[in-house]
Amino acid sequence: MGCYDQIKSMSLNLIGKSINNMNTAIITGASAGIGASAAALFSQRNFKVINLSRRPCKVEGVLNLCGDLASEENLGNILPRLHEAVSKSNSVSLVHNAAKMRKDSVLDCSESELREMLEINVVAINALNRRVIPQMPKGSSVIYIGSTLSMKAVPNSFSYILSKHAQVGIMRATCQDLMGKGIHTALINPGFTDTEMLQKHLNNDTELIKSLAKMNSFERLANPKEIAECIVWAHHNPVINGTILEANLGQKES
Ligand SMILES: NC(=O)c1ccc[n+]([C@@H]2O[C@H](COP(=O)([O-])OP(=O)(O)OC[C@H]3O[C@@H](n4cnc5c(N)ncnc54)[C@H](OP(=O)(O)O)[C@@H]3O)[C@@H](O)[C@H]2O)c1
Repeated sequence: MGCYDQIKSMSLNLIGKSINNMNTAIITGASAGIGASAAALFSQRNFKVINLSRRPCKVEGVLNLCGDLASEENLGNILPRLHEAVSKSNSVSLVHNAAKMRKDSVLDCSESELREMLEINVVAINALNRRVIPQMPKGSSVIYIGSTLSMKAVPNSFSYILSKHAQVGIMRATCQDLMGKGIHTALINPGFTDTEMLQKHLNNDTELIKSLAKMNSFERLANPKEIAECIVWAHHNPVINGTILEANLGQKES
């Protein structure tokens, strides 16, 4: 091989490496709140970020594959794009963040309402996991966003509590099923965090929000960016594989 050919082959090699030398974050529900903050933070760290939600993520450079995560048809449409991105990645962080919350209780949650909740908070997680994890390289992570209500119950959030408890099991099973594959997992449980979901659930009642904010050691709501920091950190630290990280500023027990 001549000198020119050698240089040409070296540059092609380098180009090939840079195309495949990508870290990717696939985040569900990055159009708002914690997911949007995680998208911004991963982007700042030079990750290719892919958002899966109905509305687009406004963070610059994010690839929006918009649609309802509870729809099989939507999943069929976005999978080829996800597989393409994963195949070019050195590592992938699959962040299950999207969720729905509704007010209901053990006395009045109908089966159809429960099924609707489970579709997004549980079934959509499974649908993505079984199709994406098998393609993910070593060094990847599956990060679940649970809630303080993954570990305890309060009145009138029955289907949400049920689905958030289910996520503990999904995360623990993920850890066991991926033994030796070089992919780690964790569940991050935010406390009251200043997002659309919280405002909507509390009917934008500022007095109620203030009183809830006082229920932790710092007497304030968590900022979505603080939870995003935990997500990015969790991706980079496989030593926490299989664990639950409480991110609630230290909740008062009484
Ligand atoms: N905020 C809190 O106080 C708090 C506390 C504990 C746990 N969490 C957990 O933190 C996570 C993020 O919550 P957040 O407070 O950031 O909520 P948020 O601001 O309401 O954001 C929820 C995200 O989920 C997406 N989503 C909901 N249903 C969807 C569907 N059917 N298909 C696709 N995407 C859907 C929404 O996107 P589109 O509407 O654009 O589809 C949105 O991007 C959730 O798992 C939540 O349970 C939050």
